[in-house]
Amino acid sequence: MENFIYDIPTRILFGMNQVENLGKETKKHATRILLLYGKNSIKKNGLYDRVIDQLNKENIYFVELSGVDPNPRIETVRKGAELCKKENLELILAVGGGSTIDCAKGIAVQAKYSGDVWNDLYMDKKFNLITDTLSIASVLTLAATGSEMNGNSVISNMEENLKQGINSYLLRPKFSILDPTYTMTVNQYQTAAGIVDIMSHIFEQYFSADNKAYLQSRLMEGMLKTIIHFGPIAYKDPNNYEARANIMWTSSLALNGLPSLGKKSTDWVSHQMEHELSAKYDITHGVGLGILTPHWMNYVLDSSNIHRFVDYGKNVWNINEGDNWNIAKEAILKTREFFTSLNIPEHLSQVGIDNSKFEEMAKIVTRRGKIGAMKQLDYNDILEIYKTSL
Ligand code: NZQ
Ligand code: ZN
Repeated sequence: MENFIYDIPTRILFGMNQVENLGKETKKHATRILLLYGKNSIKKNGLYDRVIDQLNKENIYFVELSGVDPNPRIETVRKGAELCKKENLELILAVGGGSTIDCAKGIAVQAKYSGDVWNDLYMDKKFNLITDTLSIASVLTLAATGSEMNGNSVISNMEENLKQGINSYLLRPKFSILDPTYTMTVNQYQTAAGIVDIMSHIFEQYFSADNKAYLQSRLMEGMLKTIIHFGPIAYKDPNNYEARANIMWTSSLALNGLPSLGKKSTDWVSHQMEHELSAKYDITHGVGLGILTPHWMNYVLDSSNIHRFVDYGKNVWNINEGDNWNIAKEAILKTREFFTSLNIPEHLSQVGIDNSKFEEMAKIVTRRGKIGAMKQLDYNDILEIYKTSL
């Protein structure tokens, strides 16, 4: 086990009706806030009215900004930051999925930063320049990204066809409210995409060649089994509270830093490859991951890392028949079949993507050199995975 610091500061209010604590929790941190949300979902399911009621009850001054896109845009970040500066706001309350929370984080940085966050931070990754931000809080409505409990923000620049992320401890929300009942209105397509995204976050940390942090590996296997059990239940029966609750909590734990504590390295190749797909084709993150991940698994599997796939096959899928190669390959096949059972396509061509931008995307993915922990991959490797995913 490598040394680590365990410090995950977001206060979580989990469960039915926790929104009733929103006003009081917010008041602990701010009296002037930006209320940020997406398009219509929170108005349709009644959450918007409850949020407004809570803010009014505590006399919290709020300015609204709505219309955050899935794959949130840098333009919205800039617009929100201007609003925060003009109105002298202290906290951004994101009510929605990962896109809204990520956008809130971009705004929180830009509102306190004199330069341009896109160039300096999202592109050039100078995260040490993030020294002061507005506060963030969230009411989560879609289980997928873990943004409600981490310091990441992923933003798209459609003019430049780029999608890039930042990370800072300062961007971890002060609190997040997780009421599973508000995820019951998430449609099948987004539910499936969320399930794949959660599993992918676990894979990215589970699949590293080193065998360190035994406990964390077992925790991750438990999370994967939870999603494999409850994912299809929520998919078929959207109002199943236990399924929605278990998926929601797993989504937060999967990417709040806990699973990778004590591990030497984590992978993140599938994510970097997917961000290029969303940047160029505006596809849903979880769908892109669902297509790429089993192809990535098949590509990286070799004798030096097979033990990780064997652990995965035995401990997650209960595959015990055959030699190690059979177990590893069967586990990859099971992963694909599971995604297919949620109507996630297997090939990029099924979502209208051709091979015309593969070289450009592979170049961007490897612009800082080789990537990956399970296996170090260069430009040619990435290009090959895109090609086999076609
Ligand atoms: O805009 P509204 O009307 O709210 O509709 C949204 C949106 O169309 C809808 N939705 C959300 N909650 C709903 C609902 N519909 C009905 N009922 C509800 N309760 O779902 C659609 C997708 O929302 P979005 O926020 O885009 O989904 P998700 O949470 O999957 O976020 C995806 C974004 O997060 C990034 C992705 O790249 C992508 O841009 N990621 C962020 C990460 C992080 N911050 O740590 C890590 C991830 O790997 C990922 O990269
Ligand atoms: Zn993801």
